[in-house]
Amino acid sequence: MSQRAVVFGASGQLGVELVRELRARRYDVKGWDRTQVDITDPAAVENALAQFDAQVVFNSAAYNQVDVAEKEPQAAFLVNGLAVRNLALACRQVDARLVHFSTDYVFDGAARHPYVEDDPTHPLGAYAVSKLAGELYAQAYLDTALVVRTSGVFGPGGLNTARGNFVELMLRLARSGNPIRVVEDHVASPTFAPLLAARTIDLVEREQSGVFHVGGGTPTSWFQFARLIFQAAQVEPMLLATNEREYRTPARRPRYSALSNAKMERAGLEPLPPLAQVLVSYFEERKRKTG
Ligand SMILES: NC(=O)c1ccc[n+]([C@@H]2O[C@H](COP(=O)([O-])OP(=O)(O)OC[C@H]3O[C@@H](n4cnc5c(N)ncnc54)[C@H](OP(=O)(O)O)[C@@H]3O)[C@@H](O)[C@H]2O)c1
Repeated sequence: MSQRAVVFGASGQLGVELVRELRARRYDVKGWDRTQVDITDPAAVENALAQFDAQVVFNSAAYNQVDVAEKEPQAAFLVNGLAVRNLALACRQVDARLVHFSTDYVFDGAARHPYVEDDPTHPLGAYAVSKLAGELYAQAYLDTALVVRTSGVFGPGGLNTARGNFVELMLRLARSGNPIRVVEDHVASPTFAPLLAARTIDLVEREQSGVFHVGGGTPTSWFQFARLIFQAAQVEPMLLATNEREYRTPARRPRYSALSNAKMERAGLEPLPPLAQVLVSYFEERKRKTG
């Protein structure tokens, strides 16, 4: 009999890839978007899980507006923190494994090495605190929760979401014809959603639990990322490097939040391919979707 899996937040960038990859691996999958199940509603979560007897539950729903969260920290905490408690409690009731996603922003960016899972956390703002709370709730109620921290997620699903992703933002700015300024003093691990989905399911299939980092593989500044995007898209806008001092944002962000995938690789998973190669796949898929 095939394994049964549930995906909450199924229409987000990662959610669509989880559903696709699970179906490709012959799971019996139920994906719910926010209009079908709002994870901040404990009764809705409980009913949904009671109806579909899943062995594994993926939570790809999140409040991801890092700057807006500084104005509405409660909204961020409700989705990223308290709703994960709803999911963990409901998973405990039906004896399902919970797979939850977190962020590189749980770190403060003071490190000079790609962050490993045991590095101390120190979130710098409301979004980051709410995501750390979600990790803690998942682990408070469940012994076998899998928490996957990732970074700078981009996937073709971003073409259909209101929030989009960094690639689509860069393409939009390029079309405007104006010079584009991107910070070069902030370094992260941009991660391709289809690969994040595949590696996460690999971890589940290897019965892994605890915290794992699944980031793009190579520490990359946002400026470098923008340059790679324009190379892959074969467009040449005027791209200028800026820095944190010149480009202020409401939320503080870690300057360096690259993630080490060493633990994932020790578990026997394949390393992630270089970002330039992954962007080629992104643009192929984008072309297929936009015609
Ligand atoms: N995107 C990044 O750069 C990034 C970086 C680090 C970590 N992460 C983490 O990676 C995971 C996947 O992110 P993503 O890029 O796929 O995000 P995304 O594209 O913004 O998708 C998030 C999804 O969650 C849904 N959602 C929000 N509130 C909900 C609620 N109360 N109930 C049910 N669904 C709700 C959203 O629906 P609506 O569209 O209707 O709001 C959206 O479909 C998240 O845990 C995120 O925190 C992302």
